[in-house]
Parts: sequence; structure tokens; C-alpha cells
Amino acid sequence: MASIAVLGCMWGDEAKAKIVDYLGAEVDYVVRFQGGSNAGHTIVAEGRKYVFHTIPSGILYAHSQCLIGAGVVVDPFSLIKEIRELEAAGLTLQNRLTIDDRAGLVLPLHQMLDLGSEARLKDSKIGTTGRGIGPAYADLTARAGLRLGDLAHPRYLRQRITELYEYHHIPVATDELTALLANLKDAYKQLKQYISPISPILHEARQREASILFEGAQGSLLDRTWGTYPYVTSSHTVADAIGSGTGFSLRHIDKIIGVYKAYCTRVGEGPFPTELFGTLGDNIRITGNEFGSTTGRPRRVGWFDGVMAAYTARLNGIDAIALTLLDVLSGLDEIKICIGYESGGKTLSEPPAHHLDLAKVRPIYITLEGWKEDITRVRSFKALPHSAQFYVKAIADILDVPVEIVSVGKDRKQTFMIQAGGTA
Ligand code: IMO
Ligand code: MG
Repeated sequence: MASIAVLGCMWGDEAKAKIVDYLGAEVDYVVRFQGGSNAGHTIVAEGRKYVFHTIPSGILYAHSQCLIGAGVVVDPFSLIKEIRELEAAGLTLQNRLTIDDRAGLVLPLHQMLDLGSEARLKDSKIGTTGRGIGPAYADLTARAGLRLGDLAHPRYLRQRITELYEYHHIPVATDELTALLANLKDAYKQLKQYISPISPILHEARQREASILFEGAQGSLLDRTWGTYPYVTSSHTVADAIGSGTGFSLRHIDKIIGVYKAYCTRVGEGPFPTELFGTLGDNIRITGNEFGSTTGRPRRVGWFDGVMAAYTARLNGIDAIALTLLDVLSGLDEIKICIGYESGGKTLSEPPAHHLDLAKVRPIYITLEGWKEDITRVRSFKALPHSAQFYVKAIADILDVPVEIVSVGKDRKQTFMIQAGGTA
């Protein structure tokens, strides 16, 4: 497969990195195209845990080149911290990491604005990760933002940063500005070797038929337009963002894999039709270790939402499903899947666009038999308990897309493929 995309199709945290890592053994390039350090991608390989925020998780394979595209927003200080941590864990990044000079800059000001806006919103807050992502994208759209390439032009950088503070009507003392510029100069010295346009690299890679994997961050339901607005992130997370975020046209992507968890989670505020409260939700949260890898927040937990899942499968035009964390559902007597919404006496098969309407829907469930067996050692579809097979097939049927990859544990090895056509 020459070029594939791995996209989170719900509210993020679908274990995308695990799938990227599983497929990464065979790819030459792993590319991030949107988001920033709000992402928290966890991989467990050979008993060791790694968490990535801005760097593509493909960096774990010594043969792969990792690219960060123009659609990403980069906090230079947190990126350097991430690089140093990975180096301390024994990984080599030199000549393996390229960051596009068109990528946006996240500055300390953006983090301050993010936290300030959340505090001001009080009860209607978004529940952001507080990494400055929203304000950084907003500034880029307003053409007031800065890009990584600006770091190469110190005088212009000073002018743009001064203008940015003016734009936000925030006074900045001269010594504060001087200190920030000195820190940015130092950061640039450390990052310079990695900064270069990635689109020519991708085009050249395509010409020699190298394999490329595009790694999504967040999930489709957090997309700035198609997600549960305004309870979303500030980038586009759907497949179409790959082209604008890397300069590699979506038309050249051979396969799109949608990653879905076997149940749903959401971190932060916003509507969540199938949310579970009480002991059942608590138990799934603990079994699935559903606590944020970026912020440590407990994630909200719910049943698989087939309405939302079918919607995002269509938005992204996915070719296959990677179903993750199936092992977490072991031990339940019965498992529910939402197959429609009820609202004002009507049955809906599409999520309403307005979050106030979405918050009012009542999920219509089908109830499936659970399984008691521990499935963490299962390595084939046939070896799954019958009711687990049935559950996987039900998801494939609802989305009308085959499930091709199943994950039954955190480790790289706890993953298996289902032959094409096996489930749908
Ligand atoms: P990965 O890549 C889950 C959520 C936040 C909040 C909303 C806006 O690990 O799946 P932001 O800081 O982006 O402005 O926050 O989006 N959010 C995520 N939720 N996984 C993520 O990334 C997320 N990145 C942002 O919790 O609800
Ligand atoms: Mg995460």
C-alpha cells in the first residue's frame, strides 16, 4: 500500500497511535498534518511506554522518516522538550524529523489566551487541553499569527510579535518581549536542523513509490466544522485536511483507515448521546485506563454510537475500520450499540448539526450478548468468542465498512488483521 491515512473517527483517543505503530513497521514516512501538542499518542512497545504530542509516533521505527506538515501548530518549547525526552529514551531524531516552515507557531501568549478564555466561559467552557491550540489557529486565520519560518527572521519576528500583542490589546513590557525573543532564538538554534518544506519530500517519495502513512490527531467529531461545534478543536481533523495540511493531495491517498474504539469516550465538554453514568461507566473507565495522556483528566465513557460512527465513516470516506480496545468490554453480561436517535417523537439516523439539539436526543439501542473470556491473547478473528465476533460484525454492518484490524491490548503484539471482506 503506497499511501494510507489513519484517522480517529470519534472524539479523539481512539488509540490511533497504536494502529500507526502496528502499520508503521512497513512504512517509510509517517506524517502529521493537523493539530498540535493537544494530541497525546501513547504506544507501548516491548514493555516500554512512549507518549507523543507533536512528533509522529512513527519515530519509534529507526527506518522511518517523520514529517510534521504545514497544517500543524508547533509550540517550539514543548517540541524541544519532547525531542529531548525521546533522545533520553535512546531514540535518534537527527536526519529523521522534518518540520514544515509553514507550520504555525504556538506562543506562550496563546496558552495564556486559551486558559483565559476557558476561565471566562465558566460553565460553557470547551474543556480544552489548555495548550494554546485554538488561539494559535485563530490568529493564523486572522493573518495575525506567526509561522515557524518567521524564526529565521529575527527583526521581522520582533515586529510580528509586537503586532500580535497589539492585535490582542495585551500590553507587553520591553524586557518581557526581549526575554521571549531570546528564548525563541535559542529554540530556533535547536530546531533549525529539522525545519524544511515537506511537500517536495512527499512528492519525491510518491514518485519512487515509497510508502507514506498520514497520522491523524484528535478525531472527526472534534473537527472544527463537522464536529460537535463549538465543543471541538480548532483544526480540521477529517481526511480532507491531509491535502491542505501537507501539500500532498488527498487524491493520491490509496487507503483511509478509520480508527474506532469498541465503545466511546470523550474528554472535555460537549454533547455525548451514549454517555454512561454510574458504576458501569466507572468500570469501563478503569478497565480501559481512560485518563487523558495529555492532561490526565478522566474521560467520559459511553456505548458505541453507531449514528456518529456511520456519519464519520462517510465524512472521511473510510475504506476499513480499525477497532480498538475490544478487550475492555470483556466480562460484561450485555453490550449496547446505539443505532439511531429519538428526538421529539422522530427517529433520526443522522446527528443533528446543532449541539443543543444533539444534547436532547435519546439513543436507540440494540442489546448484544457479552462475553466473559479474556481476549487479550487472541490473535485472530476466529479465535474470538462468538459474541465478540458478532459484536465486531455488527459494527461493520452499521458502518457498511469492513473491520480489518482489531486491537485487544496496549502492546504492539496485541493486534490482528481480519482478511479483507471478513466482516462486511
Ligand atoms: P488525540 O490526538 C481527545 C479535545 C479537548 C477539548 C477539545 C478542544 O490524543 O486523540 P483543544 O485543546 O484542542 O482546543 O481542546 O478537544 N481534544 C482532545 N480529545 N484526544 C485528543 O487528541 C484531543 N485534542 C483535543 O479535550 O474537548
Ligand atoms: Mg490522546
